[in-house]
Amino acid sequence: MAAGITGPARAGQPLARASVGRRRAPIAYASTMEAGQYERDTPPRALVFGGSGQIGERLLAGLLAQGWQVSAVSRVPRAPAPGLVWRQGDLSGHWRDDGPFDAVFSCGPLDHFARWYQASDIAAPRVVAFGSTSVEVKGDSSEPAERDVAHRLRQAEATLFAAAHARGVATTVLRPTLVYGAGRDATLTAIARLATRAGLFVLPAGADGLRQPVHVQDLADAALQVLRHPATAGRAYALGGGERLGYAEMVRRVLASLQPPPRLLRVPAPLFRGALAAAHGIGRLRGMNAAALARMREPLVFDIAPARRDFGYAPRPFNPTRDMFGL
Ligand SMILES: NC(=O)c1ccc[n+]([C@@H]2O[C@H](COP(=O)([O-])OP(=O)(O)OC[C@H]3O[C@@H](n4cnc5c(N)ncnc54)[C@H](OP(=O)(O)O)[C@@H]3O)[C@@H](O)[C@H]2O)c1
Repeated sequence: MAAGITGPARAGQPLARASVGRRRAPIAYASTMEAGQYERDTPPRALVFGGSGQIGERLLAGLLAQGWQVSAVSRVPRAPAPGLVWRQGDLSGHWRDDGPFDAVFSCGPLDHFARWYQASDIAAPRVVAFGSTSVEVKGDSSEPAERDVAHRLRQAEATLFAAAHARGVATTVLRPTLVYGAGRDATLTAIARLATRAGLFVLPAGADGLRQPVHVQDLADAALQVLRHPATAGRAYALGGGERLGYAEMVRRVLASLQPPPRLLRVPAPLFRGALAAAHGIGRLRGMNAAALARMREPLVFDIAPARRDFGYAPRPFNPTRDMFGL
């Protein structure tokens, strides 16, 4: 579902990028900026936050493959690569860089980024930031911590759009659903690893709420695609995967990708709740709270038609392989 536009969509032309690979000048680069495109012989420059994350690392690879010069910010020192310099900094501190950059990407915590962006005077005509569909899902959660997450995400989006609008900067927020693909996510990878160790995975009966898992590569590609489409300025997009399937079917496909495939056991819901309470009693499975359990029965799917329409988003269906869970 595309969120309301908080700033005017900026007119412009699709970006016709002229280069890929590691070549440098002379290459004609089309600007990522709006109308009045210009050609130039220097590579475009990007500032990336969260570039070490599961989505961010794919985005860095995509930018470098397209010939961008990338400055990436991390809280810890990291090794440079051709076209890539790492800057050490923390979004919750006073890190600064005036730029100029052609685009700023945020693949880290949106609340930190929005606060930082509001206070910074970074020069860049384009911002692309990842948020989360939790902004819609967790607002009414029975768990106060989850309601707080939704509240902080909503505030962060509003802060970011307002600050960008005031500066005439085209901003797009991308809200992924359930992320997988890099063996670093806390849901499907955790399920795959637990099931591999135990030889089986247990789900309560009725855990059939629809899900729409999205691959990290499709998200990184989306962050680059929006640059070419001025209609995406001032908008937020839910980014689910290319297929909707029930929770248990999603888990079944995860297990089927493993070697040997662990068994999926479905037990009556009261039995599952009792076992979960016992696990909580010994400090295990704390992340699986009552709200998360209830959500397994609820549909968590989103309309990706606005993303398809506005920037040609075309995510893959859910056909996981073992390597996507780091196994
Ligand atoms: N994972 C999901 O299922 C999911 C679902 C929906 C939305 N999202 C959103 O998508 C975005 C990317 O998610 P992800 O799973 O790829 O993230 P991730 O793997 O957890 O990585 C986040 C990155 O943010 C950086 N970071 C964290 N705190 C920072 C700070 N204070 N200052 C500067 N950098 C900081 C970290 O970089 P360093 O450690 O190098 O500093 C880290 O690599 C996030 O906005 C997330 O909320 C994720």
